[in-house]
Amino acid sequence: MYTKIVNLNEDDVDEQILKEAGEFIKNGKLVVFPTETVYGLGANAEDGEATKKIFEAKGRPQDNPLIIHISDFEDVDKVVRNISDSARKLMREFWPGPMTLIMEKKSIISDVTSAGLTSVGVRMPSDKIARKLIKFSGVSIAAPSANLSGKPSPTDVERCIEDLNGKVDYIIGGNKCEYGLESTVIDCTVNPVCILRPGAITLEMVRKVDEKAYIDPAIMAKPEPSLKPKAPGMKYKHYAPKAPVKIIDGDLKKTIEKINEMVQNYIDDNKKVGIMATDETKNNYRNAIVISLGSRKDIYSIGRNLFETLRDFDDCGVDVILSEAFDEEGFGVAIMNRLNKSAGFDIINV
Ligand code: TXA
Ligand code: MG
Repeated sequence: MYTKIVNLNEDDVDEQILKEAGEFIKNGKLVVFPTETVYGLGANAEDGEATKKIFEAKGRPQDNPLIIHISDFEDVDKVVRNISDSARKLMREFWPGPMTLIMEKKSIISDVTSAGLTSVGVRMPSDKIARKLIKFSGVSIAAPSANLSGKPSPTDVERCIEDLNGKVDYIIGGNKCEYGLESTVIDCTVNPVCILRPGAITLEMVRKVDEKAYIDPAIMAKPEPSLKPKAPGMKYKHYAPKAPVKIIDGDLKKTIEKINEMVQNYIDDNKKVGIMATDETKNNYRNAIVISLGSRKDIYSIGRNLFETLRDFDDCGVDVILSEAFDEEGFGVAIMNRLNKSAGFDIINV
């Protein structure tokens, strides 16, 4: 398949391009586009034949529902019903932005999109390119992250091209994604609301609207049969680079010592090691490829660079990736959720 690839400048968006891409969506084609979280792989959410192609292009399991993207508040009532007070308040507070609300689906949304569920996830992104694309398409756009299933989500258009060139009709590039981790997914069909996937809209922020809100306990723990995540997508192996990831968790000084000790052992075995460090610690490591995720003083910089760094280590061909850990509070909950999954919960406490 021929893929049209265009890079747009977010500060000076070429609307002709987005009108054309909007037509593509309306006509059942696949379009990759930037959002403030990660890049999305979009298709017309109302057209089951179109959304079926998303599953095929990504190699995504058919039982993992897609979320849909809208551009205006008036669109909400077209796609969902029985909207709770908490859901309305969350929308007013955090849309447009990195938050997806699960609500009862209307029949306009194809069952293929929702993987046969009676509920559907809805998000209004803040990214200018995404919003205009949705508006010009005239429909709601189903879009999972624009990566091959199982890989870290793309936060840079080059990674979308790597994964999906030849498998989609259009790829639109924009700026690097602001948050770098996927949206917070909140189940609003239950009371109190439940966070199914942590993101930039944190538990503390959600509790300002519903003080009893909580995080699905199944997602922060090592997978076990008795504790099944409520979001189908959270049960799959995810965010995994080619090399195994190990997290070293504890006091920073001890973390550094432990990592250097582990590096020495790997070197003795002729292994090439990658270290996910931070600006504060990066100069303490030796004999490894060290990439800083960002500053510990700016937790958002860590989130922004996490997926791209995992992919960079793939490109370097390392045999193992050792990562520092982060405090599980605020946005740090989302960072540790993704990091734990990429490491298959291989955590070494020091
Ligand atoms: O930031 C994001 O949310 C990005 C951008 C492109 O908007 N999209 C994204 O989509 O991450 P995806 O499909 O990769 O993740 C959606 C998550 C999955 O874990 C899925 O299982 C869950 O939401 N989900 C979708 N519909 C659901 C439903 N009706 N009930 C429970 N979980 C649902
Ligand atoms: Mg995904």
